This record gives sequence, structure tokens and C-alpha cells, in this order.
Amino acid sequence: MPISPIMSSVAVSDSSAPAARLRIFEAEGLSKTYDGGRIQALQGVDLIIHEGEFVAILGPSGCGKSTLLNLIGTLEKPCAGMFLYRGRAVNDSFDGQAYRAHDLGFVFQAFHLLPTFSVIENVQMPMFETNWTAKERYQRANELLRSVGLTERLNGFPTQLSGGERQRVAVARSLANRPSVLLADEPTGNLDSISAADVMSLIIRIHREQRITILLVTHDPAVASRASREIRMKDGKIISDSGGMIGLARPHFSEEDPQ
Ligand SMILES: Nc1ncnc2c1ncn2[C@@H]1O[C@H](COP(=O)(O)OP(=O)(O)OP(=O)(O)O)[C@@H](O)[C@H]1O
Ligand SMILES: [Mg+2]
Repeated sequence: MPISPIMSSVAVSDSSAPAARLRIFEAEGLSKTYDGGRIQALQGVDLIIHEGEFVAILGPSGCGKSTLLNLIGTLEKPCAGMFLYRGRAVNDSFDGQAYRAHDLGFVFQAFHLLPTFSVIENVQMPMFETNWTAKERYQRANELLRSVGLTERLNGFPTQLSGGERQRVAVARSLANRPSVLLADEPTGNLDSISAADVMSLIIRIHREQRITILLVTHDPAVASRASREIRMKDGKIISDSGGMIGLARPHFSEEDPQ
């Protein structure tokens, strides 16, 4: 079945470069330790990400990729360092719940669909954070599932779908509330090569059509090569960045930043 545009109301445009170079994320010295400091998952990461970038994060297992994504997604708190979202400090007074509900979309390797809810119900889950009516939620989920080519599976259950189809449902769900950032942690990690290519094409199309900022963790250099910027990590640090931020000016934090 042909896959329709993700959101017809959004202009399709060249996404090869971040539009106005607005800083969506700025991190300085971001660190995370576990086990009382024995495990240094992230060690002083400095990073600037501009709105509209499609960033692939690569590196060996255990190098801190998921930790970085989890800190950016406020699923975990840093032990040290500063982190800004659109110039606002992500600290104890930052509303992480609203940020996760309205600004971010998440896609995980293991899909994380709810098995006892139908496909269309799964896609509607994040919409319960909005004040949309049941009809609006249904229509939005329907539109999203059409856009990922799953119109005929609306009332099916996740266990009835292939891995690739499940991940397409998860991608549809991640877009439910029109997030400005998509955080994807190895979204193709559990998929065969054909399904992986399918899901990657979908993510690339989302980026192109919506100019959404994407941070995608992957082990697969072929997947990473489709992003506009590649960040490589090792031992909790960024060791290379095709965006050229390594060794350049550190991020600037506003004077009134309380952190
Ligand atoms: N909740 C936790 N408790 C203790 N250690 C943790 C925790 N989460 C992550 N770690 C450790 O932090 C380090 C970085 O983990 P992280 O999950 O970020 O790696 P990764 O690069 O995503 O690896 P993979 O490619 O295998 O997913 C690893 O040594 C890991 O064991
Ligand atoms: Mg990981």
C-alpha cells in the first residue's frame, strides 16, 4: 500500500541543513554516573543541536548513547552539567512531564506497544495528555496510521503485527502530539534488513516533511549515513562529530540561567 504524507498541512522542503540554526538543545559538561560513581556512563558531554537537524549517534555498546538520549528526554537526570531546551534550563523547575508529552516523540528498539490495546488505541495513548475530543483523537490516529501504511490494521493488536509493522505503529504513536523532536533509540535494532530499511525510509520522510529534529541512536553505519550529522561516542564521551562542534566554541548559557 502506498504510504501517504505524514502531515499534508506541512510544506515539504529541503531538510539537508538546519533552517534558521536555532539551538534546540545545548549541553555543557553533561555527566551521568551510576553505582556511586563506579560507572561513568556519560562524562562531560558538550553538545549543540540545532532545530531541524537529523543526528545519528553511534558507538560501541555501553558507550553512553542511550544515557545521552535519556537525559535529553528527561527520562533520567544528569549528575553534573547543564542542559538547555530552546534556551530554557532543564532543571528541577522545568516541567519534564509537559516537555515529554508535547515536545518529544519517543521510539524504542523494543517498540513498547501495549499488547492489550488495539493498534489505533496505542497510537492515541499520548493524546490523552491533550484536551482533544475522542473523535479528534481517533481521526488523528487514523491519519497517522494511514501515513505509515497501516490503515488496514487499525483494529488489530500488536501481537498480530510483524516487527516492522509494530515499529511503524510506534513511529505513528511518537508523532501523535506533533512533537518538535523525535528521540529514537535503535529503532531498527530488532528488525530484519528489509523492515529496517522501511522504518528508516519512514523516519527520513518524517524529517523531510515535518522538519522535525531527530536524534537517532544506531549501531548501523548504513542507517547513520542517512542522517545529516553523525556523532560518535566512546567511553561516555563524544569522540567525533560531523557537525563540527568538537573543539569549537562551547555552548553559551544565558546569565540568568539558574543552573
Ligand atoms: N540504570 C543503570 N544502572 C547502572 N548502570 C547503568 C544504567 N544504565 C546504564 N548503565 C551503564 O552505563 C553505561 C552506558 O550505558 P548506555 O545504556 O547508555 O549504553 P549504550 O551506548 O546505549 O549501549 P548499547 O549500544 O548496548 O545500548 C553502561 O556501562 C551501562 O551498563
Ligand atoms: Mg543503548
